[in-house]
Parts: sequence; C-alpha cells; structure tokens
Amino acid sequence: MNRTNPVGVFDSGIGGLTVVKELDQILPNENLIYFGDTARVPYGSKSNETVIEYSKQDAKFLLNKNVKMIIVACNTASSVALKELRKSFDIPIVGMIEPGVKAAIEKTKNGKIGVIGTHSTINNKAYSRELLKQNKKLQVYEKACPLFVPLAEEGMIDHPATKLIAEDYLTELKKKKVDTLILGCTHYPILSKVIQEIMGNNVTLIDSGKAASSIVESYLQGRGLRNESHQIGKREYYVSDLPQKFKTIASTFLGKPISDLRKIDLEELF
Ligand code: DGL
Repeated sequence: MNRTNPVGVFDSGIGGLTVVKELDQILPNENLIYFGDTARVPYGSKSNETVIEYSKQDAKFLLNKNVKMIIVACNTASSVALKELRKSFDIPIVGMIEPGVKAAIEKTKNGKIGVIGTHSTINNKAYSRELLKQNKKLQVYEKACPLFVPLAEEGMIDHPATKLIAEDYLTELKKKKVDTLILGCTHYPILSKVIQEIMGNNVTLIDSGKAASSIVESYLQGRGLRNESHQIGKREYYVSDLPQKFKTIASTFLGKPISDLRKIDLEELF
C-alpha cells in the first residue's frame, strides 16, 4: 500500500463531512475520498441487515478507488456493520464508537455518561455496551434523537423549534446529572451550540468524529502509511444523489464550500 493513496471516508449522507472537517485540520496533506450515500439516507431508521449491506457496498466503492484505509464516519454504520466490514475487507477500518467511548471515559469525573444518537445506534446499545465493557461502574443513559438529523440538514441551528425539540430530548439526561454527553451521530456537532446551552456548561460534549479523527493520525503513523507530502491533499466527494440544496447543506457541515463533487449511479454500488 502506498502512503500517497487516499484515505476513504463514508457516511449515509453528509453527516460524515463533520469528520472530514476535523481531518482537514489534523491531516491536511492526506488525499481524501468521501462517499455520502445521499440516495439511501437515513440509515438510522433501517434494519441492521440493510445497514450492513449498504455499508459493505459503500466500503467496496472506496476500495475500488484504492484507498489505504477507511473511516466509517457514520455512527449507525459503525454500530451495526463495523465487525462485518473488518471481516470482509483486508484494510484498516476505523469506526466512531471506540474513539468516542475512549474520549468520554477520559473526560467523565462523576461516571455518569449520556449518549445521543439515531434509533439504530441507541437500540443496538453500541455505546453503552462498549462503555460498560471498559468500566462496569459507569452509569450510562441513552436517548435517540432522530429529529436532530433533518434539523441539522435544514441548517436550523438557531431556530426556536430546534431548541424546543432539543429540550424535549435532553431534559431527562440533564436530570440524571450526566457530566459527559457523547454526540453519537456525525450530524449532531452541527447542533452542539443548542445542545450545550440546554445541558449547561458543566457538561462536556464528546464529538465522536473529532475523537476518531485524532486516532486516524496515530493509526496511519503506526502503520507507516502517513502521507509525508507537504502539499495540501486532494479532496474528492462522491454522492449517490444530488438534492437541490446539497451544496448549501454540505458547506454547513464542512465549514467551507465543496468542490470536486460527483454524483454516481446507485448501480455502481452493486
Ligand atoms: N450520520 C449518521 C450517523 O452518524 C446519521 C444519519 C442517518 O440516520 O443515516 O449515525
């Protein structure tokens, strides 16, 4: 495997761009290929079988582009499909769960950790299982917050409706006095301002994508795969559908306008 080969990143849609935004900071000289399965989003309300099938197709698409490693920048796919992906493909694959868990355990002082994510991530208990595996004494409280995904995509960051919905979702976790809250969905960092306001400044928010990005660097370094070029790396974005508002929404997630964007046909995934 060549050091200059790109790093592959995939998500069910555009949530994974919040991870690319972190990678831009930490690994600016790596070449990146992003795939967002915008035609089949959301994954968070689909069955495990479907998410595994889609995730394998997404990974294969990236492998065909000669990526040197894959980041599953989707908590739902990480929760459900990571094991299968690692079994099926002989390439380093990093998910969101383990790094998020590690960061939360490092931060919590009172041992009470909240987790928010899609229905799939929460129902599969991906975070709570891993947290309790690391430390049986932790108290973990989980809550599915499915409406956060469309609110983030609509860019309703400061909207009163977002605040109302966030209050409804988060009040219970606040009452449990969690001191650390894992944002277990790559869409959620977009709404971190309102989430922080409701939880209060004493609660540390863990951005699972940020935690995963910092692990990727040591991962590449450890395997002698770090691109040592001093040039800014190339970024290529592929999506399976191109909705009208895509560029506006994507730039909210990425924090800058997107270039080199291509739509692929779904058949290319089969
Ligand atoms: N970005 C996905 C995640 O991190 C959520 C969106 C979806 O439901 O597909 O779980």
